[in-house]
Amino acid sequence: MTFAEEIPSVRVRAPGKINVYLEVGALQGDGYHELATAFQAVSLYEDVVATAAEGFSMTVSGTVDLDGVPTDERNLALRAAMLLAEETGYEGGVHLDVYKQVPVAGGMGGGSADAAAALLACDALWDTRLTGQELHRLAARLGADVPFALKGGTAVGTGRGDVLNPALARGRFDWVLVTSDEGVSTPKVYGELDAHRERHKVDIGPVVQRPSVDPEVLHALRAGDAAMLAAALRNDLQVATLRLRPDLAAVLEHGEAAGALAGIVSGSGPTLAFLCGSAEHALELLTDLETAGFPALHVHGPVPGARVVG
Ligand code: C5P
Repeated sequence: MTFAEEIPSVRVRAPGKINVYLEVGALQGDGYHELATAFQAVSLYEDVVATAAEGFSMTVSGTVDLDGVPTDERNLALRAAMLLAEETGYEGGVHLDVYKQVPVAGGMGGGSADAAAALLACDALWDTRLTGQELHRLAARLGADVPFALKGGTAVGTGRGDVLNPALARGRFDWVLVTSDEGVSTPKVYGELDAHRERHKVDIGPVVQRPSVDPEVLHALRAGDAAMLAAALRNDLQVATLRLRPDLAAVLEHGEAAGALAGIVSGSGPTLAFLCGSAEHALELLTDLETAGFPALHVHGPVPGARVVG
């Protein structure tokens, strides 16, 4: 090969997400819970570069703690590439370079963003040209949050969270994230929620059979009104995450006392998301939290889903 014949590669960027509303219904026979959620994609990204190769391999780097991130077929990005090859009959392989900025096991869908980016990058690299619908179907097989990482923006998710409907959102929402050194396991958080509901059966009554997103949330998103959204934020997993990570309660209180409109656990956590009224307000809160010793990041949403950037 001469220098002129560079090995083909494609770079895709996919966003992390915050669930601004997450209502968890009953546990289904397949081990998943029925959900109603409102996702917002935020400006914290994963980059995946797919380069033509014979077999399937990957490397991981990034700004976050990479402890415990596998680089074999246990990694969702590599599984995404293999699934696409299998489904399309593509006989070659790929090498994936994943650059992570979304906290690992942080409740922001970082692994799902990697999988969505890998699907799109391989589809472009291999010229397999799946339709949006076909990509969505493969994404849903990889994990409940993968379809949203493909779509981005703001969307309502039902079913396992993988049945998506776009939601209208105006303007921009500013968030301050507080990250944790250690992640939590999503299945463990759902298991803790089931145990909590079992213990408190009498007090909380039957678990809602058909969860749905509160219209106030959709109204606030449509209006681009952060104060209205702050009043309507809800995450049913929060009680379970706080039980596994009681240290987070003080951080939530600190952020709210320091002026956040509201604070919430992001997805299954342990990342915390504080909603702010403006970018200036977010910078003030960020400084306050960092001074208090909490590692914080300022992001905004909504942002687009997975897209080819080079
Ligand atoms: O689909 P994903 O691999 O992201 O889900 C991880 C785990 O989270 C599932 O195995 C399940 O334990 C839990 N989960 C759930 N109900 C959902 C989504 C996830 O119980 N709707």
